[in-house]
Order: sequence, then structure tokens, then C-alpha cells
Amino acid sequence: MDLRIRSFEEYQQKYAESVSNPEGFWDEIAKTFHWQKPYDTVCEWDFEGPDIKWFKGGKVNITENALDRHLEQRGNKLALIWEPNDPKERFVRLTYRELHEKVCEFANALKAQGIEKGDRIVIYMPMVPELTIAVLACARIGAVHSVVFAGFSAHAMADRINDAQAKMVITADGLNRGAKQVPLKRVVDEALQSCDSIERVIVFNCLDWSPNMAEGRDIWWHEAIDGMPKECPAEEMDAEDMLFILYTSGSTGKPKGVVHTHGGYMVYTAYSFQNVFQCGESDIYWCTADVGWITGHSYIVYGPLISGATTLMFEGVPTYPDPGRFWQVCDKHGVNQFYTAPTAIRALMAYGEDHVLSYSLDSLKVLGTVGEPINEEAWKWYHIHVGKERCPIVDTWWQTETGGIMISGLGDLSPMKPAHAGYPLPGIQPVLLDQEGKEIKENGVEGYLCIKHPWPSIIRTTYGDHERCRTTYFSHYKGHYFTGDGAKRDENGMYRIIGRVDDVINVSGHRFGTAEIENAVNACSIVVESAVVGYPHEIKGQGIYAYVVCDTFPDDLETARAEIVETVVEQIGKIAKPEKIQFVTGLPKTRSGKIMRRILRKIAEGEPDKLGDISTLLDPEVVADIVKGAL
Ligand code: PRX
Repeated sequence: MDLRIRSFEEYQQKYAESVSNPEGFWDEIAKTFHWQKPYDTVCEWDFEGPDIKWFKGGKVNITENALDRHLEQRGNKLALIWEPNDPKERFVRLTYRELHEKVCEFANALKAQGIEKGDRIVIYMPMVPELTIAVLACARIGAVHSVVFAGFSAHAMADRINDAQAKMVITADGLNRGAKQVPLKRVVDEALQSCDSIERVIVFNCLDWSPNMAEGRDIWWHEAIDGMPKECPAEEMDAEDMLFILYTSGSTGKPKGVVHTHGGYMVYTAYSFQNVFQCGESDIYWCTADVGWITGHSYIVYGPLISGATTLMFEGVPTYPDPGRFWQVCDKHGVNQFYTAPTAIRALMAYGEDHVLSYSLDSLKVLGTVGEPINEEAWKWYHIHVGKERCPIVDTWWQTETGGIMISGLGDLSPMKPAHAGYPLPGIQPVLLDQEGKEIKENGVEGYLCIKHPWPSIIRTTYGDHERCRTTYFSHYKGHYFTGDGAKRDENGMYRIIGRVDDVINVSGHRFGTAEIENAVNACSIVVESAVVGYPHEIKGQGIYAYVVCDTFPDDLETARAEIVETVVEQIGKIAKPEKIQFVTGLPKTRSGKIMRRILRKIAEGEPDKLGDISTLLDPEVVADIVKGAL
């Protein structure tokens, strides 16, 4: 199934077709997949509900499309290459046939452990092949996976387990991250103290440690698969049955479980993968994300495998054993498409060119970025030193909620402009709206980025709370999906994403709600209240700046800061650590008690002269003090 567009003219023609006849357009594409029973309708939708159904009546299992369908033609082709954290360790290669067997074997193990269609399973794993196997095995039997990034704390994991009412956790004893080893099972044990729904824990032996194994609850992965058949029929799923829940931050304190379904997600991840990366039959494709995020779901696991590609999975970090690791791996495996995040590029840039110049990188054809706006300097460095000015860069804009890439170049087909994501993929209808929600039709403008027609992998609901899905995405601008991003459209219609316009901070391409971090800061015993904003950070894109009011102003600022940081790490994980903590005596509030973040943001950005009108504040004096103490 080759769904690739071959020229920019063809793109323009397909795009026009996808707007004038969306159903016909997607029907042509969807027909090329393996359906256990064909669908009755292509798309039924109503953004008011929202109530969105793609391929209604169709029966399908995404794993049959990702595995079984390839066995005849590509059984011996590599599906997965796994590169370990330590370059001296052996790498792993699995053909489609081998991956199919392993997925079936583990799927049978899940069934033997009492898992049934519809059960939720939380996966908290290192970046090892078994993570991909676990994800696919869940889908195989119709269980709903919810991968929790292995950097999240016990507290954050417990929240997610409880929200999903998960029955099982799949984890490992620990993981390798650069020179460090991180315990995972210990974190799971701590989380499970506050979770009643978990009946079983499967533990993969990654480090040969001897973690605590709870009698009657915990079982080793190798014991669970012992004697299991290597064939397992794919469960018949309705196209709209839930495939996974992935938790992501919003503007309130509680992460929300974004729900994607079998049929639409399958069609869109494969279509977008093939077109954005222009991945050919014998190419080796590598996405450096973690499967704990949507990028890993859609573009390490599902998109590439449904397309019959060879996907590389990397256990380690870009700087271990040295900052040339990414490029060493590219040369070692002959990587053709390389997909990473601006924050990684900026971090490597800081180590200088030498680390990249010592590798040939001859195999590279397409470079990609994702997760946050890429600044021009990083874009140029990537283009010149990694791509040798010969590889196009696809700047892919999308979200957990969109399931797949929405605005991006398509390999070397599209015009390219630094820091611009470019044009929408066929089937995607972005619009820019003004403050009043009116569509701005001209070019050379800026506005709120919304989408006016559904695409197959659009969010269906937020798990257990449909109203939250409606109010967050479909209520701001009637008849539109609201992205939470602001964007510009240049004279040629190319989009440039500016960043979030809501209370979401993007740290190294990871989303955090300000309220979520404030809740964590406030959990520290010395804190009375806090306000958190983002500020420009050279490597991370945005850093977290916390303004904190304590019961008594701390004498020892460093100790107080350490205490707060420790609490945030406990509540969420290291990834959410505030970079700057300023102790203040009060926060700027309106007379109704609302914190004026706009003011705090300006101070954090180092622009205290641009605070605007502060006369409506309850106590304008407080601002001068904050400006004086700014870090
Ligand atoms: O603000 C946008 C930013 O990341 C947000 C989505 O975050 P998340 O759901 O965690 O998914 C990240 C990976 C898909 C968006 O609302 N973002 C993502 N890609 C880009 C981007 N901002 C600018 N340019 C991008 N290419």
C-alpha cells in the first residue's frame, strides 16, 4: 500500500480534492487497508457534541494492518531495529515475521493473565522492543493501552491509573538512561499503594535487578510468555472502538486522557507517515521520540509499521556516551529519515559542530522536527551540518489530540522556509480566527489556529469526561476544533506556528499546564500559593518560572528552592522541574482574585517595561516588588 504523493502539483490537486470531497478522498485511501468488514459510511460528524465517527460499521484491527498484512510480501523484512543505550551492547533486529510472533505470544500472555477486550493497561516501560510489543499486543486483543512516559513520578502514574481504572501495569525492573540506571518497578510499587483497580503487574527483566515481586500480583514477562502460542487471532474491533488513551496536560490541573480509535487513527498515521517522510520500501526510518509521547505512538510504532517500513527505536539519550551519538547511530544503521525535536538539536548545537562533522551522514534523505517552534538558528544548524544542505527539513506541526501530523512539508516535494511548518496535509483544513472568532481569509495574517473539518485521527473524547473534551476543544469557536495555538500565515499561505495561547507551557517539546505545576508547587509544605509561567529558554524552548508565596519569607532561599523542586519531582517528575523560583510576598491579582499571568509572563521574559495597564490590580504595589526581585 503505497499512499505517497509524488510531486507538489499532485499535492495541490489532492488537497483541492480533499476539501471539495473529503469523504471520497478518504474513502479511496481507507479502501487500501485490510478491513475485517467494510465500513458503511466514511465520516459522520458534529462538532457540537462532539460526535465524530470515521468508517462507521467497519470492523478492523490495527495490528492486522501493522503486522499480518505484511507477512506474505515482507515477512523477512526488518520491522524494528533496536539500538541500545550502550553502543557496545548488541543491537536487536526483528523482521515482520518475528515481531508478529512476539506480539501474538505476548497477546496470549495478556489473555492468560485475565485481560479482556476493553480492559485498560498502563504501560510504564523503558525504550526497549518489548514496549512496542506490549503496545501492539494490547491492540491485538482489544485492550486499551495507556503508555505513561517512564520519567513520570509515582504520583503522576497513580493519577493516570486511577483515571483510566486500569487493570494491569506492564513495567520493567529499571531502565538505562545514559550513564544512569533508573528504577521503574519501585515507582510502580509506590504508585500502586493508592490504586485499587490493578490486578496484575507484568515486569520485564531489563537490568537483571531483583525488584520486589508482590505475591499473587506481580509476574515476570518471561514467565508470562512461557509456553504461549505464537499465533493469536486479532480481535474484531469496531472502527470506533478505543485503541488507546494518552494523557496530556491542559490548562487545568488534571491531565486529560486523549482517546484515539482503531480505524481513523490507523488510516491517518499511515497516510501522514508515508507522505511527510516519503519513506521508500528499503529505507531505514528513525524517530528519536519516546513511545511515552504521541510522537512515539504515531511515528515509531503505528505509522511506520502499518506502512511496512523499518522503524528504529533508540534506548538512550543524544549525549551518551558523547554528543555524537545520534549521528553515530545514523551512520551505523544507514538511517534515511531522521525525526527529532528542536530541543535536542539546540542541546547538541551547544556542544559544537565537531561531534557531527566526524560522521558521514551520507544515508540521510529527509530530516524532521516536532514538538515546538524551531528557531532559525537551530533550523540552519540542522540543515547545514546534519542535512549537508541536501536534505529537506519537514517541520511537522501537530498535537496529541490530532493523532497525526497536520501541517508540514512533504519530503522534498514542498517549498521549505525556516521556522515554518508550511502547508496543511491533504484532508486538513486549518483556519485562522480573530478574537471574535471570525475567520481571517487573507494571507500575511496572524490568528488563533483552528481546524474546520474533522480528519480521521481527530480526538474522539477525553476519557471518562466527554464534557471536558467539548469545552476544551469545541466550545471556543463554534463549528471548529480549537488547537490552543496561535499561528501566522505568510503571503504564500505557509503556516508558522507561534506557540500556545492558553495556559500551557511547552518545555523541551513536553506540555505542562500552569495549573498542574502550580498544584505540584503548592503541595510543598512551605508554600502558601504560587503562579507559574513560561519564559524563553535557550535549549528547552520554554523554561518554567515559578513565583512563590511562603507562609514566612524563607531565610535560606536555596534550601527552600530545593524543597519545592523536590516536591514537583515527586508530584510530576523531573521533566517538570521549575528552572527559576522567585519568592514573592504577594501575586498580582485582579479585584476578583484572578492572577494576572500576563504581567508575570512579561517579568519572566525580562520585559518589565511592557507590563501594560496594571491599574485594575487589587494591589499594584506588589508588581514593583516582583520586578525588583526578578531572576
Ligand atoms: O504548541 C504546539 C507544539 O506542541 C503542541 C502539542 O503538544 P503535544 O500534544 O505534546 O504534541 C507534541 C508532538 C506532536 C502544539 O499545540 N508543537 C508541536 N509541533 C510543533 C509545535 N509548535 C511549533 N512547531 C511544531 N512543529
